[in-house]
Amino acid sequence: MKNNADLKTTFELGGDLEINRLGYGAMRITGPMLSGMPENPQNSIDVVRKAVELGVNFIDTADAYGPFTSEELIRDALFPYSKDVTIGTKGGLVRFGAHVDFNHDASPQHLHDALDGSLRRLKLDHIELYQLHRIDPKVPAEITFEFLAKAQQAGKIRHLGLSEVSVEDIQLARKYFKVASVQNRYSVLDRKWEPVLEYTESQGIAFIPWFPIGGGTTAESSKLQQAADRKRVSTHQLALSWLLHRADNILLIPGTSSIAHLEENMRSLDIRITTEEMNDLNALSEV
Ligand SMILES: NC(=O)c1ccc[n+]([C@@H]2O[C@H](COP(=O)([O-])OP(=O)(O)OC[C@H]3O[C@@H](n4cnc5c(N)ncnc54)[C@H](OP(=O)(O)O)[C@@H]3O)[C@@H](O)[C@H]2O)c1
Repeated sequence: MKNNADLKTTFELGGDLEINRLGYGAMRITGPMLSGMPENPQNSIDVVRKAVELGVNFIDTADAYGPFTSEELIRDALFPYSKDVTIGTKGGLVRFGAHVDFNHDASPQHLHDALDGSLRRLKLDHIELYQLHRIDPKVPAEITFEFLAKAQQAGKIRHLGLSEVSVEDIQLARKYFKVASVQNRYSVLDRKWEPVLEYTESQGIAFIPWFPIGGGTTAESSKLQQAADRKRVSTHQLALSWLLHRADNILLIPGTSSIAHLEENMRSLDIRITTEEMNDLNALSEV
């Protein structure tokens, strides 16, 4: 567990793609309830551009966000892309409308169309990191993995990742392709996936926690609030800093549609947590 000034600020994704550990999650730049275009698309464009200006070089999105509008807004904000910026997108979930659930579809036919759609919207000839949004209970994982491996061999994908998976899922996927990243829900207050973090850390796989500040709810923890007050930082900053200290393979993608929140979140890079403080924070969630 990292606890001092030797905090690493970058991670080699897939062993060859240097990423700043504090990135940006672009699910929240869409319209209300993650649906359609936001009322003020220029605000979303400004937030994405500001993130890059502040040092973000990894942006997480998915075709299902909007759907499609998150990818479109990232393209509008950043195309033509600087060489330094890596956009990671995802396929395997579908959703049409604000009031309906995300459904699984990780069939080869759907993923073929989803991947081509992401390439077209983002105006890319390959995706630097393509993550399977979910293993589809209706499709044998082996069939999905085989398709993804072939798409990578065809040059459409540089690195492959998974989302909401167990260690066993990762081990199965590794029979088909090199797993560069795993994106599971995880935060200082929610450590259900601790064994997956530990496995990815031991294997040099990036671990990208979604909900890193609990969807903005970390302030509801009075103990976290007290710890943050002692350090004169916000609960969100402390939650992000805890993740940066927890393991070197953790890449952060906090989501926001606000430049003020983005700036606040970026300042979590400046925080250093002592071993004693880490021990106290570690006790906030059962492992
Ligand atoms: N793989 C998956 O299944 C999956 C699932 C969900 C999300 N994700 C990815 O993970 C990223 C992060 O997750 P998330 O966006 O759901 O949750 P999150 O980053 O934990 O929280 C984002 C929420 O917190 C608020 N917020 C952010 N910074 C804040 C601050 N400094 N002060 C107060 N409120 C703040 C945001 O509202 P404002 O807009 O008002 O700032 C937003 O509602 C997403 O953007 C997406 O890319 C992946």
